[in-house]
Amino acid sequence: MKKSRITGIGHYVPENVVTNADLEKIMDTTNDWIVERTGIEARRWFNPDKDTVSNMATRATKMAADRAGIEIKDIEFIVFATITPDYFFPGSGVLLQRELGLQGIGALDIRNACSGFIYALSVADQFIKTGMYKTVLVVGAEIQSSALDKSTEGRSSSVIFADGAGAAILQATDEDRGVLSTHLHADGDYAEELYVHDPGSSRKTRLSKDMLDGKTFNLTMNGNTVFKHAVVRFSEVINEALQENGHVTEDIDLLIPHQANLRISNFVQRQFKLPDDKVFNNIMHYGNTTAASIPIAMSEAWEKGKIKEGDLICLAAFGSGFTWASSLIRW
Ligand code: COA
Repeated sequence: MKKSRITGIGHYVPENVVTNADLEKIMDTTNDWIVERTGIEARRWFNPDKDTVSNMATRATKMAADRAGIEIKDIEFIVFATITPDYFFPGSGVLLQRELGLQGIGALDIRNACSGFIYALSVADQFIKTGMYKTVLVVGAEIQSSALDKSTEGRSSSVIFADGAGAAILQATDEDRGVLSTHLHADGDYAEELYVHDPGSSRKTRLSKDMLDGKTFNLTMNGNTVFKHAVVRFSEVINEALQENGHVTEDIDLLIPHQANLRISNFVQRQFKLPDDKVFNNIMHYGNTTAASIPIAMSEAWEKGKIKEGDLICLAAFGSGFTWASSLIRW
């Protein structure tokens, strides 16, 4: 059976840098509080005149395709992970397809929040293993900043979430490397612990004054519950990936966790006794970009020479749903 390999990885983040000092001006918070609880020093928030989820994804895709040494027209299928699509429907996959000039090829949207990129990678991997496609574009892109309550009331979430895009070109290979396995989990009992309630379909009207007054269109998170579940699930799903492939922690060359919160990443790092140079974090600069965080981190890690041929890379994520997932990749 074929395996799938990531042959190129790229990213794009909006130019607009929002520092903790900028947030201090619009809500009752401090740089110290944000750095101590989340590790975040700055994040990117989109420019509504310039950035959309799909055009950020297009820029990330072009970088990934360049690095893979392929032409855009070689892409046969798109898997687009986002929970912040440009429209309520259709999904952003078709908008990306249109921007890339790939009219006609299939475009699938994935809505698994912070685990979305690994879910998307898994779907693309299955298509390649079965021989249906040879070159698949896997994208994670989000604009979270427009769903944040940027007043003091919403400060525990609005200091964390941010915007950006990452893309990977996944290609079939006969070599014994690439995506070794993916592991996907979910527990809908916790759906409302981290969510955006409106606009939803199961209401009398999609939009109402009550929703605007009640700010139910803003992202809502029970940070303590998310934190407690995240640290357990991250560890479980990394262990699952190692066991499935007969590997031990020491075999990991680089762990790229979803950039949820630096405290969560540090906790997982300590649990696995991984040295600093084996865990990649860039949440300090970009905040939590949901489905985009892993491909942005992977792209930067690759740029910095931290991902080399033959390395064993572990991806792991946890987020809204709850959903959690991991993948082991022999680069
Ligand atoms: N600035 C200053 N103070 C803040 C604040 C902010 N941005 N946000 C919350 N606070 C205050 C609270 O109002 C509270 O004050 P009080 O004690 O006077 O009531 C105090 O800080 C503690 O709030 P709490 O929510 O208990 O803080 P915490 O230590 O749990 O940290 C999170 C909050 C969100 C940082 C933390 O729960 C967390 O990291 N959770 C995981 C979030 C995550 O990773 N989400 C992404 C998953 S994909």
